[in-house]
Amino acid sequence: MSVSEFISVEGLTRSNPKSHRQMRFAEEERPFAVQIFGGQPERMGMAAEMAEEVGADILDVNCGCPAPKVVKNGGGSGLLKDLPRLETILKEIKKSISIPLTLKLRTGFTDSTINCVEAAKMAEQCGVEHIQLHGRTKEQGYKGLANWDLVRQIKEAVKIPVSGNGDVTSIENALRRFEETGCDGILIGRGAMQNPWIFRQIQDVTQGRAPYQPSLEEKQAVLLEFFELLSEDMPEMPALGKMKQLAGQFTKGLVGGAQFRQTLYHSHSAREILDNIGVYFETLTTHDTFGNGLTEIEADSDLEFNSCDVSINNSCETAVAA
Ligand SMILES: Cc1cc2nc3c(=O)[nH]c(=O)nc-3n(C[C@H](O)[C@H](O)[C@H](O)COP(=O)(O)O)c2cc1C
Repeated sequence: MSVSEFISVEGLTRSNPKSHRQMRFAEEERPFAVQIFGGQPERMGMAAEMAEEVGADILDVNCGCPAPKVVKNGGGSGLLKDLPRLETILKEIKKSISIPLTLKLRTGFTDSTINCVEAAKMAEQCGVEHIQLHGRTKEQGYKGLANWDLVRQIKEAVKIPVSGNGDVTSIENALRRFEETGCDGILIGRGAMQNPWIFRQIQDVTQGRAPYQPSLEEKQAVLLEFFELLSEDMPEMPALGKMKQLAGQFTKGLVGGAQFRQTLYHSHSAREILDNIGVYFETLTTHDTFGNGLTEIEADSDLEFNSCDVSINNSCETAVAA
């Protein structure tokens, strides 16, 4: 299944074209969940209804984004500071839709206020049908490691399905998390940006096959197709941001990837990025050296796209393996 990037209910209910664009999806993306964020119960209810109207299969509430702009208005992980408000929101949404309602949580606002188990139990009582936990607090942002023991604790505390999330970047790691926590699904974010084939590879292994290995040509083709779709879908500037974001993650671990990412950072047009991708993959195919000798660290320091803060400006998405 796939999930939209998180969409502002303020934007949606005030007819902001960007928010409406973010709800669009292709048939092959089904089952498709629309994720909304906000702090006002009535607006959350209205936005949920709009998502159902455009054909979403699932409505997901974001209770995890740590971005100050989101938290300040009571949305995202800000809701973890006010569980009664979250409860009101979930009940309001349940009244407005007939598609399943799911909830994406962080573990708590701070280390000393971990309340995800309590939040999950309350959500189950409100009729939420699936819980996803990113095992970090709001305060942690993307630092430190995700706490998967809390995934296990939620799984033991509720009857509805529970998925875990945080730091899964390999098949082995995913399988270990399933086993350790008994969770029903795993969400993969940054790992899927680096390796969009990871879901298929996990499925291959669980079904006894060798994991699929894409060729260099396929990797390049996928990157280019993604960029093409972006260019059709949005103005050049936001498309450029997304291209940099994906290409930066996608080439992590590839030979010369750090140098390539540095050229991305300095690219000012989609054409320039596309040209650089062509040159980069050509050098990979011919085993030449790409770039000007920058070290990995220098080259990467400017390109750490690891927060949903970025997504407010450039927009990004979360992939889910169930
Ligand atoms: C660039 C970026 C954008 C994100 N946008 C969203 C979002 O819109 N909604 C959401 O629930 N989580 C979002 N996340 C958080 C991820 O879904 C996930 O919870 C987090 O990255 C931890 O998982 P990972 O270690 O697999 O990346 C975003 C993460 C990143 C890095």
